[in-house]
Amino acid sequence: MVQRETWATRTGFILAAVGSAVGLGNIWRFPFVTGEGGGAAFLLVYLLFVALIGFPAILAEFVVGRKTERNPVGALMELGGSAWKYVGGVFVLTGFVILSFYSVVAGWFIRYFLEGFRGSYGSLLAGYEGAAAEAELPEAAVMFGDVSTGLDAFVFHTLFMAVTIGVVALGIRRGIELAVKVMVPAIIVLLVGMAIWVATLPEASAGYSYYLSPEFGVIADNWATLLPAAAGQAFFTLSLGMGVMITYASYLGEDRNLTRDGTAIIGFDTGIAFLTGLVVFPVFFSAGMTEPGDGGPGAIFVSMTEAFATIGGGHVLGLLFFGTVSIAALSSAISLLEVVTAYVIDEKGVDRWKAALGMGGIIYLLGVPVTYDLIFLDLLDGFADGILLVFGALMLVILVGWIAPKVAVEELEKGIGNLGGLGQAWIWAIRVPILLVLVITLYLGVEGYVGFLTGDFADWISANL
Ligand code: TRP
Repeated sequence: MVQRETWATRTGFILAAVGSAVGLGNIWRFPFVTGEGGGAAFLLVYLLFVALIGFPAILAEFVVGRKTERNPVGALMELGGSAWKYVGGVFVLTGFVILSFYSVVAGWFIRYFLEGFRGSYGSLLAGYEGAAAEAELPEAAVMFGDVSTGLDAFVFHTLFMAVTIGVVALGIRRGIELAVKVMVPAIIVLLVGMAIWVATLPEASAGYSYYLSPEFGVIADNWATLLPAAAGQAFFTLSLGMGVMITYASYLGEDRNLTRDGTAIIGFDTGIAFLTGLVVFPVFFSAGMTEPGDGGPGAIFVSMTEAFATIGGGHVLGLLFFGTVSIAALSSAISLLEVVTAYVIDEKGVDRWKAALGMGGIIYLLGVPVTYDLIFLDLLDGFADGILLVFGALMLVILVGWIAPKVAVEELEKGIGNLGGLGQAWIWAIRVPILLVLVITLYLGVEGYVGFLTGDFADWISANL
């Protein structure tokens, strides 16, 4: 057997994992689900979820990948037996569903980036003045409504998917590592700069208190919706629950300290999401939008274009921001298509080009309805985050906690040394409390999704068909 390829540089793995984790989940999804969840209450539940469940779960994916040195489906079967191929099938399906809408949203970022070459963001918004007055909405909200669906959205979805397929088909890993190396620091510098500027806005303090001071009563009253929403966001943003981290860890040397790498990845990812919130909410309140939940999937676009239209140098900052996020989205999209493609290559023996093009093509088609109406965004996103990712994480927890705990602890200890009681603490945390929380979350997620199907979605169908 050929020696399996490992990461070329010590930082290669971290870069690829951070590149996968940091993406639209942090910049686009985090602020709007936080808004919908009521702000600070959501933030707190989300942070707890990341620390108490995301961290043990990412370690579980790491050990499974590094131990088996295989693609997610093969890895699950090696540790769990052949029935686990169905769980692997769910992983692949999850990749399909997520990437389909992800590509449409990434297309919006590319569009906003390219718009910046036609004029400043201020002059762009001025073009929406009349329509905005009529609709009694900020110009930026009207602009988002205009570009987020229809032919424009379709074209940019096509463009983004074509690039993603191209990169995966060519197997360009090196280019991506380099891009991540530049992009992550760039995003952090940009967001920190924006956060400082935003603090000078007139209604900044209203934004901060909405985002940062949780009312515990709100959490107690809403836990049944907060829990699945926070869980879905945590798994989505960390790229957990569908085998991306299994895949990346399968190329990893045994000398790596997995807890340290996991902490770094989670730290970057969570930090970037948190910073995004620090920018978005003060802008929202200062623009007179006091119900941040109403922003929906447009929240980041509305608040950022508002900001770039007012701020000195906003034109350049805007180009930088939308451009960088587009690249961040690409590095995440690649990880999604890579898992699906690698599986088809391994299992069906087709070559890389055919696999990437075939799978990417189907995913592309699945995303097209989203460019027609945003109800399809809820349909796909809700299924993936509310159900599929939580299910994937639950299966992983069962595998590591109950089926192969000994192997898992031994694997975790490689590169760290004897963990003593800590290894056992990890296993027991996974086995009982985390497993229970995931079962409850999955139940609530299914319930919420069925509610959507029979409610909003059924209404939409009867109104439109
Ligand atoms: N984590 C990425 C983001 O926040 C999205 C992503 C990439 C993902 N790979 C994934 C989500 C695997 C879930 C599973 O944008």
